[in-house]
Amino acid sequence: MEANFWHDMWASGVVGFHQADINEYLKSHWPKLQLEGDEKVLVPLCGKTLDMLWLAQQGHAVLGIELSPKALEEFLAENNLQAEAIQQANHCGYKMPDMTLLCGDFFHLTAEQCQDIKLVYDRAALVALPEKMRQDYVSHLQAILPAKTQYLLVTMEYDQSKMPGPPFSVSEQEVRSLFEPFAKVTKVEEKPFSRKGVDALEKVFIINS
Ligand SMILES: C[S@@+](CC[C@H](N)C(=O)[O-])C[C@H]1O[C@@H](n2cnc3c(N)ncnc32)[C@H](O)[C@@H]1O
Repeated sequence: MEANFWHDMWASGVVGFHQADINEYLKSHWPKLQLEGDEKVLVPLCGKTLDMLWLAQQGHAVLGIELSPKALEEFLAENNLQAEAIQQANHCGYKMPDMTLLCGDFFHLTAEQCQDIKLVYDRAALVALPEKMRQDYVSHLQAILPAKTQYLLVTMEYDQSKMPGPPFSVSEQEVRSLFEPFAKVTKVEEKPFSRKGVDALEKVFIINS
């Protein structure tokens, strides 16, 4: 999607993907990762997800990256968080003791900015991107993240002819062809649900690079 699509959505105030509660898959599957507890987690295309707060509460340092300044401002305001404004080469953002929120394009994130990342939490990031951008997204992750990064990935599958994205339908086969060239992909949950009257499946993967 073009950046303006997302800026317009945030400006409209209608962000249907935002969850008022912590994601259930995060809570149930995160403990299955090989964790020491204080590893740094990358949350790509983070929006204003409360899942970042949960990850910080588990003891992790969190690095969120988000295109929309409004999303990050709302995250801070709605959670009564005080943060120091920061400026990095390609991104502005905010710094808190346990969390850094970068504002700008995920595709401009560098290996230097991600040198301490051990884990990735992807909910509604891969599936937010159209097919032609998904390979670039995964290739960029692979390029900037250290070896042995672990991912928790939540996707959804449905008949794309019945509904436009985002969120886009991303098949398990596509997840495997994107990640298996450099990582081990394990599906840990699959759950049917209905999205706008269309049958869909949510799938959760643990990926070890
Ligand atoms: C579907 S939302 C998901 C947000 C969050 N992961 C959640 O679960 O609520 C996708 C987010 O990605 C952001 N986004 C889209 N393209 C981006 C890019 N190239 N770089 C950084 N953020 C991007 C959008 O502004 C939007 O907030």
